[in-house]
Amino acid sequence: MGLSPQWQLRERTSMARLPDRGAGDTEPPRVATTPVPMVAEAPSLATGTVREQAIARMDWAALQRDVAACRACGLCQQRRQAVLGVGDTGADWLFIGEGPGAEEDARGEPFVGPAGKLLDAMLAAIDLRRGDDVYIANAVKCRPPGNRTPESAEMVACAPYLKRQIALLQPRLIVLLGRAAAHALLGNQGSLASLRGQTFSYPEPAGESGGIPMLVTYHPAYLLRTLPDKAKAWEDLCRARALMRQAKSNARPSV
Ligand code: URA
Repeated sequence: MGLSPQWQLRERTSMARLPDRGAGDTEPPRVATTPVPMVAEAPSLATGTVREQAIARMDWAALQRDVAACRACGLCQQRRQAVLGVGDTGADWLFIGEGPGAEEDARGEPFVGPAGKLLDAMLAAIDLRRGDDVYIANAVKCRPPGNRTPESAEMVACAPYLKRQIALLQPRLIVLLGRAAAHALLGNQGSLASLRGQTFSYPEPAGESGGIPMLVTYHPAYLLRTLPDKAKAWEDLCRARALMRQAKSNARPSV
């Protein structure tokens, strides 16, 4: 495809032997070799709607603190640190992945391993840059042991954080990277192939004033292993760019 971008992977780091996990991953799980310190017990608002209501009122600083101390699911037991997200908190673009991997767990930032480098290249292909009108988050904020796919219950436990991030950001477009992110936001167990090409709305169904458009594309970790699907991801990115243009023109006040 002549139009496809040069998504060149930058230099592999020490993680080169350990590809990031992503939607549809069938590789054997990585085993954590470093003992992971437990975090302090979280204060009272541990579960249920009280917790959700409290999170729904948090600002970014409070959210960061709460996520760091969260013990709402078992993922807290082996994390080094929780990874809330990174980027421009006034961003129009929100990209959502699955959950931190080993490098993300160590550095406290999403998508900093090999998949992150590909994500950066994908962003560059549509003239975007991490941190500049772009915010990147994950469906779960703590690394699943061995980089397995997060379980539904873990995504449900983490959902109030993602929901609050979206409420604070108010992005114009949400790009869901891979099946786990799609399932977290759409509650939909469909295959990635069946979800690609559709435009969803957040929240679903859209309220009277409409919702935030969402689309699904491949997880960069999957693309690292399945190069032919890069062309499809490029189509998705082009569609995302068109949806963004549309969202911006819809928002322009009519004169
Ligand atoms: N994969 C993800 O889904 N998120 C990350 O932050 C890193 C790898």
